[in-house]
Order: sequence, then C-alpha cells, then structure tokens
Amino acid sequence: MKPDTPIIIAVDGPAASGKGTLARRLAERFDYAYLDTGLLYRAVAYDVLRRHEDPANAAAGLRAAKALNLAMLGAPETLAALRTGEVGTAASLVAAQPDTRRAILQIQRDIANAPPEGKAGAVLDGRDIGTVVCPEARHKIFVTARVEIRAARRWQELHAQDPKLTLQAVLADLQARDHRDSARTTAPMRAAQDAHLLDTSDLSIEEAFAAALALVLH
Ligand code: C5P
Repeated sequence: MKPDTPIIIAVDGPAASGKGTLARRLAERFDYAYLDTGLLYRAVAYDVLRRHEDPANAAAGLRAAKALNLAMLGAPETLAALRTGEVGTAASLVAAQPDTRRAILQIQRDIANAPPEGKAGAVLDGRDIGTVVCPEARHKIFVTARVEIRAARRWQELHAQDPKLTLQAVLADLQARDHRDSARTTAPMRAAQDAHLLDTSDLSIEEAFAAALALVLH
C-alpha cells in the first residue's frame, strides 16, 4: 500500500522575521520533521569561505553544494560557525547562483517528501519553499516584520559574541540581504499567492506562535 503523502508546512520570510522559531515550534507541536533550509546555503557559503574562494563565484558555490554533508549540520559547533553574520551574507551570495540552488533543491524536496524517522510531515523554512521547493505544500505562511525590528532582534542575538557590532551595521546588512534575496532572478524571496501573511513586528513569540498555529489549524 502506498504510504500517506507527508503533510508539508512551508514557512518563508526574510532574515530575523521569526520564521525559524515559528517553524521549529510548529514541527514540535505536530511531531513533524524540521528543516532550516537557510542552513544548507550557509554550509555551502562556509565551505567556500574556508577555501578562500569568492562566494559570488558560481563554480565555487556549485562545487561546495555538491559536496554538502547533511550529517555534519546538526553538530552544535558547526551550527555556531554557520550562524554568524559573515556566513549569512556569503550565503545570500551563493544563493543567487542558479546552479547552486538547483543542486540544493533536490535535497530539500527529498526531506519534505520522505521526512526522516517516518514522521507524518515536515516543516521547511526558507525563502522559496512555498513558491519553488514545495509549491504543493498543504500550509504556507510568509512571515514578515519591519526591518528595524528585525535588525534589533538580530543585533540582540549577535552582539554578545561580537561586542563591536552596531545596530546600524546589522540594519544595513539586513537591507542588503533583503534586496539580494528579493531581486535575484532565480527563486527570489516572495510570498506564494496562496500563502498566509503573518507580520510579527508587534507580537511576542507566544502571540506569533498562536497566530501561526491558528493559520495551520483553520
Ligand atoms: O535564513 P537564513 O538567514 O539562514 O538564510 C541565509 C541565506 O540563504 C538567505 O539570505 C538567502 O539568501 C539564502 N536562502 C535562500 N533560500 C532559502 C533559504 C535561504 O536563498 N530557501
């Protein structure tokens, strides 16, 4: 007998919109698998930077994407290295390359269509999940927040490790990243037509989660 088709929840949106926290909590709530697709682009960018290659170089990104080792991504020390601002910026450069995106596309679809540990569904967060990776997703949420609010959140996360980091620098980086992510020709960041918009600017984490859950359960 054909197993049931997994239920996919797509959570897209710009950096520091709160989409990662919401996606992780939705996955916990429904006992679904969770995939932070930004980490895949970050891992590719990290590999490119480690080799002193240019993140805007298409061949360097493609080589790193083909060598991507998913098993490595869960380790706490790897996660910390991937979550820096420098790697985030480089990730948005490698993510603008069509061949690199293509190499990563199938990895994401495989996890969505056959979630690990036999889970009944998967929650994927990213920029193009509802539009390109899983356009057939059962639920789609596009999470936004005003850029000043997102910058303040990101600064809170990063300034402990980097006390010299200014809010102004984080804001400028997010604005540049938003622009690159929405202006690229392949799979630009945008809300799918059938996505629910969720603005978390004036919501606590609990309020935002309640709103996301209501969208999925409605
Ligand atoms: O979400 P996060 O900030 O970790 O993503 C890092 C970068 O990876 C983004 O700025 C974006 O350029 C890229 N990305 C993407 N498509 C996704 C997830 C992330 O282009 N599905």
